[in-house]
Amino acid sequence: AARRGEAARGLRFAPVAPNTRDAVTVPEGYTHDVLIRWGDPVLPGAPAFDPDRQTGDAQALQFGFNCDYMAVLDLPHGGGHGAHHGERGGPGARGDHRTGDGHRTGGCGGQLLVVNHEYTTEVMMFRGYDEENPTRAQVEVGWAAHGLTVLAAEERRDGGLTALPRHPLNRRVTATTPFEVTGPAAGGALLRTTADPEGRTVLGTLNNCGGGITPWGTVLSGEENFNQYFAHADDVTDPATKERLARYGLTGGASERKWERYDDRFDLAKEPNEANRFGWIVEIDPYDPDSTPRKRTALGRFKHEAAEPRLTRDGRVVLYMGDDEKFDYLYKFVSKERMRRGHGAWVREHNAKLLDEGTLYVARFSGDSPADEIDGSGKLPEDGEFDGRGEWVRLAAGDRSYVPGMTAEEVYVFTRIAADKAGATKMDRPEDVEPSPRNGRVYVALTNNTDRGAAGKAPADEVNPRDGNKHGQVLELSEHRDDPAGTRFAWRLFLVCGDPEDPGTYFAGFPKERVSPISCPDNIAFDPYGNLWLATDGNALGSNDGLFGVAVNGKREGEVRQFLTVPKGAEVCGPVVQEERVLVAVQHPGEVDGASADHPVSQWPDGPGKAVRPSVITVRAKDGGPIGR
Ligand code: FEO
Ligand code: CA
Ligand code: CA
Ligand code: CA
Repeated sequence: AARRGEAARGLRFAPVAPNTRDAVTVPEGYTHDVLIRWGDPVLPGAPAFDPDRQTGDAQALQFGFNCDYMAVLDLPHGGGHGAHHGERGGPGARGDHRTGDGHRTGGCGGQLLVVNHEYTTEVMMFRGYDEENPTRAQVEVGWAAHGLTVLAAEERRDGGLTALPRHPLNRRVTATTPFEVTGPAAGGALLRTTADPEGRTVLGTLNNCGGGITPWGTVLSGEENFNQYFAHADDVTDPATKERLARYGLTGGASERKWERYDDRFDLAKEPNEANRFGWIVEIDPYDPDSTPRKRTALGRFKHEAAEPRLTRDGRVVLYMGDDEKFDYLYKFVSKERMRRGHGAWVREHNAKLLDEGTLYVARFSGDSPADEIDGSGKLPEDGEFDGRGEWVRLAAGDRSYVPGMTAEEVYVFTRIAADKAGATKMDRPEDVEPSPRNGRVYVALTNNTDRGAAGKAPADEVNPRDGNKHGQVLELSEHRDDPAGTRFAWRLFLVCGDPEDPGTYFAGFPKERVSPISCPDNIAFDPYGNLWLATDGNALGSNDGLFGVAVNGKREGEVRQFLTVPKGAEVCGPVVQEERVLVAVQHPGEVDGASADHPVSQWPDGPGKAVRPSVITVRAKDGGPIGR
């Protein structure tokens, strides 16, 4: 506790030590509660969770599996439809560059959560699950356990949150909910299928990982590893189609979950275009439970993570986006039109089209140190920093392609291939990307890349400076003249993660003996004081994943402090850091090699003999005081 008072405001807690416990661990003086678990009721009529009698119909009314990103917005008084639409967090709210931040502060007595359910792990969900022969009922549970949950919650006097099942704004979106496809690729030949000859209506969203909140009060969610749901790419005969599928990881025979046995659209040999209808950013209006969510083709198609917005000075929206794959890219989108403010129907209609037209860019980085000073070990070059400049390379704008040999429609649908041709910089798994609401700089979590420098693969460079990179790095990008619509930027590595005793690590120059070890930064968030919070996925230091806070300005810049750890096998997702509480999605607890519902290795959250359930938790100070103060 001696260290508590010394840290930056918002980070004054006694850091949690790394551990391998089957529990959530929080700092001394803090406590946590489970807000909602897989299978808990969300909508009217939801039956009580019974893991041995689960059905698709029940699951469609309950909280889905493997909770990931969470957006937290204000809950309107009285729960009316759209009553508060976009009222908080207007441009300039609380002095922010980015405007969604005001949505995260709560204060109405209620909050509205939008939670991604990234994927299902059937062997953890069903006792006696036969991986070779899933039943239709199990497949239907899987479909309904994907997608999104909209959930209202009430703020308690003690600082905690209580879920409000059956609230009128609550909603489940699943793998079978209709989505409208919008933007320049909508209706094109590449998106048409037997079931949807118009190419404008897709059933469902899959593998929703990161996301963002728009300044107009909607939520964005990225479709990440959608390739795993599609079977029989090997049987596709057209070589061009096959090559495009392969660039998105669509290869092989039967899929892991065998959905193709129950719905032809998951069989690429029958419906080669169905996979083109996933890998998008989707936008949902959580204040209108009857609205049709949309897939935004102007934002490109790849393994989408977050899409976090910033506004230009003249009100255009800029989204930063990562493609989480080894050697894939960092992107941004700049809208053509400006956001409008207010609540009228025409304002909403205008803003609802903002993400349908603009310019899509990919990042190209160059370092400022001689290449021979980057030896792949993480040793700093002579100028003392991994840093340099970069440019945003235009791929397409509206109907116009800037990639030779590709139409604009092809650029949007096969964005990875367009970025390959544009000579973009191959990165170490760009996951969450988020502009700081305080300093305008953009932070990028590059989770890891164990193949960096391997035979036939890209070698270490100044922005991805370690071969066999197990622990990842955090990049800080500063747009030229602080103009997010510009095409030039400066960058530096803010953190090079790992054991601080490893010489190939860096913590913005902060003394290494005073930081918490951190590995595999994945999801990021900012607290009300402007500190950066990092959630990890896949900690390669041998202990459980955790949540960490770090100052990005001032004397304590780079002082990483661990706030919590999650149970064995779990990853930390969706962190939201508010003044009075921290919300975290505990994803895939107990998911380690060989574990199953029959042979669990975790007893979290409900103890021995109970199902292991991915859950959202809230953490608060026992004395009801602000977090980290
Ligand atoms: Fe779903 Fe890139 O994590
Ligand atoms: Ca340098
Ligand atoms: Ca993730
Ligand atoms: Ca984030």
